[in-house]
Amino acid sequence: MAGRTGRLKTWYEEHVLAGILDGAMAGVEPLRAELLPQARGRVLEVGFGTGANLPHYGDEVSSLVAVEPSEGLARVARRRLEAWGRPFELIEMSGSRRLPIDDASVDVAVLTFVLCSVKRIPELLAEVRRILRPAGPLLVAEHVVAGTPGHAAAQRALRPIWKACLGGCDPARDTRGHLEAAGYDTAALEERPLGLPWLVRPGLVGVARAPR
Ligand SMILES: C[S@@+](CC[C@H](N)C(=O)[O-])C[C@H]1O[C@@H](n2cnc3c(N)ncnc32)[C@H](O)[C@@H]1O
Repeated sequence: MAGRTGRLKTWYEEHVLAGILDGAMAGVEPLRAELLPQARGRVLEVGFGTGANLPHYGDEVSSLVAVEPSEGLARVARRRLEAWGRPFELIEMSGSRRLPIDDASVDVAVLTFVLCSVKRIPELLAEVRRILRPAGPLLVAEHVVAGTPGHAAAQRALRPIWKACLGGCDPARDTRGHLEAAGYDTAALEERPLGLPWLVRPGLVGVARAPR
């Protein structure tokens, strides 16, 4: 987006949205602390946002490839990555497009609270699969469609207004279905409540596996 509108959008993302995201996601910090220490070696994180996962990566992470399409969020992320002090690449584009990363070149991939707002999920999951080593672990933490009919009906009823207010975030995504359709083994993913508002509390958390 060029010109004044684009600059305003970037300013808003860097100075307002980044703070909103960090604040709104505070309740999932314990979950990040539980999941992310499983990352090792060269790690791909798609939908990096402000870099909220960064403090939770352990010493076994040797380098990070971060993908983030929002220019304003990427500015915040870059400052945090520079302070992190380990090798990184920050790729400012959508993960649903062909990324400039070699096939089977990362040890672990990470998707946290991203798939709810991705427009072309099959393309993004195929791209992650291409880049991740065969049978590599995909660390997942996502809010998903509720398992109980009443809760799922509320998610669907409120979907239009929720999406309009929250940057296209869909409260009722069948994320396990999408992962399975893309060929990932989801047997070890667990449905559990998240530290988020009621509408988006149902979560899917754990380690999925890319195909061999
Ligand atoms: C709710 S934020 C979560 C950020 C971070 N993963 C976290 O755990 O806090 C969702 C992020 O997904 C990013 N996103 C949305 N669509 C994307 C796409 N197609 N490819 C990569 N990132 C995307 C957004 O720009 C935003 O940074």
